[in-house]
Amino acid sequence: MTSAGMQPTTTRRTTHPTVAIVGATGAVGQEFLRVLDQRGFPLGGLKLLASARSAGKSVEFQGKPIVIDELTEQSFGGVDIALFSAGGSISKQYAQAATDAGAIVVDNSSAFRMTDGVPLVVPEVNPEAITAANIGLAEGQVPGVIANPNCSTIIMLLAVTPIHRAVGVKRLVVSTYQAASGAGAAAMAELEQQTREVLAGDEPTCDIFPQQYAFNLFSHNSPLKENGYNEEELKMVHETHKIWGQAEDTKTAITATCIRVPVMRAHAESINLTLERPLTEEQAGKLLADAPGVSLIDDRAGNRFPTPLDASHVDDVFVGRIRHDLSQPGGQGLDLFVCGDQVRKGAALNAVQIAELLLD
Ligand SMILES: NC(=O)c1ccc[n+]([C@@H]2O[C@H](COP(=O)([O-])OP(=O)(O)OC[C@H]3O[C@@H](n4cnc5c(N)ncnc54)[C@H](OP(=O)(O)O)[C@@H]3O)[C@@H](O)[C@H]2O)c1
Repeated sequence: MTSAGMQPTTTRRTTHPTVAIVGATGAVGQEFLRVLDQRGFPLGGLKLLASARSAGKSVEFQGKPIVIDELTEQSFGGVDIALFSAGGSISKQYAQAATDAGAIVVDNSSAFRMTDGVPLVVPEVNPEAITAANIGLAEGQVPGVIANPNCSTIIMLLAVTPIHRAVGVKRLVVSTYQAASGAGAAAMAELEQQTREVLAGDEPTCDIFPQQYAFNLFSHNSPLKENGYNEEELKMVHETHKIWGQAEDTKTAITATCIRVPVMRAHAESINLTLERPLTEEQAGKLLADAPGVSLIDDRAGNRFPTPLDASHVDDVFVGRIRHDLSQPGGQGLDLFVCGDQVRKGAALNAVQIAELLLD
């Protein structure tokens, strides 16, 4: 047991759990399979679930075909950990069937992230948020849900949390450059198709996004709120406060602008910080170089900094452009540029790391 305070009941298998992947055919679902394999996760069994459209098809895992079953409320018998990645409405509809059947749910959607009592976890940042009580592992309870944060939030917090812990972050301004893969497998296919169409001089097909994506960029496609922010931006604000455990009067001031760019995979983020106490560039670089899950690419002489291609299919989040903000003298303003694979660390890897915290 690697997580503080957890005492699993003897009825749940925690050495070689049977794992279900809900949404196994999707961008995140497919990444789950790669991550489970690459990390040597000690699977007792594996159940792949998706919609009726995919039922009966098979997917290769460790050299063997596994048939995909249709997700139903009866899908979770014998499942110890259910990794959900089929969208918020599916999580809301089926998470309880999974927990009633005895599985702990690790949910990639936004369905339960801000629900009181549901831990919202980045293992490098707040593993202590998982306790026996809050995921229903105390005697006589049904198991509960652990939420995986929004992908842009996870990537940002891997880079910013070490600085926050060292000197405090008073204000955070983030602008994102988000890849197609963040919107799922169909969005990736549409970007590829549009790129071919535009290069051939044809009209681009716009099925997933209402406007041309190839050779363009636009404000994030999540719904807009009355205050002019879209949901993605507000997730970055509210989820950060929850993960950092900030009470109302201690909250870091955060604002975000989220943009979808025609990159196939891996998000980039430009982050501007106002610090409580001064930090030199060297100190910031050292903190980040030592931080778990972070790698530096910060070569000023070579003008070489993180790119989405550096981060694609890689566990670590890359950080560079570490510099003092000229507009905030006194060493209390800091700029960073961050790239991270949001299908991997922003979703599948983070959820599997959470599942690893549940192992004996
Ligand atoms: N993509 C990312 O980088 C990312 C990052 C963080 C979080 N997430 C979250 O993860 C979830 C999945 O995202 P994704 O990008 O993997 O989407 P996706 O590529 O569109 O995949 C969606 C998956 O959900 C399944 N599904 C859809 N309707 C279903 C139904 N009625 N019953 C059972 N399964 C159903 C699909 O199965 P079929 O193939 O059978 O339709 C597919 O396996 C979303 O909640 C998303 O917000 C995604």
